[in-house]
Amino acid sequence: MTTVTMTATATTSYTYTPLAPSPAADPAAFEDFGREVHGFDPASVAEEGYAEIIDALYRYQVLLFRNTTITPKQQFLLTHAFDPAATSYGHGNNKTGKETKSILHPDLKTIPHQPEVQLIGNGRVPGEYEGLDSPQLKHPHHRTFHKHPISEAEEATAHATRFYRWHIDAALYALSPPRVTSLHAVRVPQGPWQTVRYDDGSGDEVRVPKGSTVFASGKNMFDLLPAPLKSLATRTTVHYAPHPYVWMSGAHALPTGLGLETEGLELPLDSLPAWDEAAVKHLPMCWKNPVTGALHLQVHPCAARSLSVAPLPAGSSREGALFPDGGEVTDLAEVRELLTRVQRPGIAPKYLFAADWREGDLVLFHNRGVIHSVTGAFRPDELRMFHQCNLAASSDPVGPDADDVAKYA
Ligand SMILES: [Fe+2]
Repeated sequence: MTTVTMTATATTSYTYTPLAPSPAADPAAFEDFGREVHGFDPASVAEEGYAEIIDALYRYQVLLFRNTTITPKQQFLLTHAFDPAATSYGHGNNKTGKETKSILHPDLKTIPHQPEVQLIGNGRVPGEYEGLDSPQLKHPHHRTFHKHPISEAEEATAHATRFYRWHIDAALYALSPPRVTSLHAVRVPQGPWQTVRYDDGSGDEVRVPKGSTVFASGKNMFDLLPAPLKSLATRTTVHYAPHPYVWMSGAHALPTGLGLETEGLELPLDSLPAWDEAAVKHLPMCWKNPVTGALHLQVHPCAARSLSVAPLPAGSSREGALFPDGGEVTDLAEVRELLTRVQRPGIAPKYLFAADWREGDLVLFHNRGVIHSVTGAFRPDELRMFHQCNLAASSDPVGPDADDVAKYA
């Protein structure tokens, strides 16, 4: 893959190389997406060096540093630099193990001496590791979550797999969505590439490295929509369920991993752990990039419970407009149908970046600017280890401003 190296200028201390796009990607969709950073050692640069990296992340959404050795403490400090007022892991420190009903429970092992950093992966780690006693890890398999999984025979013969679950890293209850997530690849078993099938009638499929983390830009997701859906997205607020990962714990995913089947399997609100209306999250459908000002369509489709659409602003054309007088969408099937309409185009194969992990990789991604998914499957004996860190943000994301509304609504 040919790459173009940007020359360092007086204003940049490091160099940035475009990430090699995935084979099916449309290069035009990735001009401003994804950079490998050279000259920045995340383990040793002092905080003064962070400002440029922070700016670059908001411009490029995903930054890759190769061949790093970085301790959990150093990883925390780098992640924390994006939000110095943040105080806890994205789901709350030491919370993931306690909500035993939460669907996130099995996937995260908290590193005791640095509780904002989680060990994730697959297989049993031999012996003591970062204060954990021979932790057992499990790569999430779509069979445990999708209503109609791929058969084991097809998995074995065709190396076929799915997007496990498209998401934003966020508790979406009480805590604000983290600005950035860092992932440090410690152990990465290699294997044949796998074919992710969408199985939604589109015929879409995409080849990805085994166990790839796939990313889709929320900016592309917004930009590619036709005007009536841009208008809708600009005017919509998403209401999330209280304790969403408990609420959805009995539900099954669509074959795309982009949201849930509507089967009435969500827990009734009165059988959830105690919750407070004031802690329920109501977030705009589009989040404004703090550096570029672009709108990113950012929704966790599994956790959304209802939508509110504001009326068109005075003077807007009503021709072709959806919900011109505004409205409330409370029927779960309708909520999900609408979310699929605005999100599914943005995860088409040509809009995907699929990480080809190598040991020593450190990836930072703009968690308020992309959605992402785990893919693939590993045998129980394949050891895979990543350190993941994100922090509940010190404030909620900001939605479209008056100019955006005037432009798009
Ligand atoms: Fe994630």
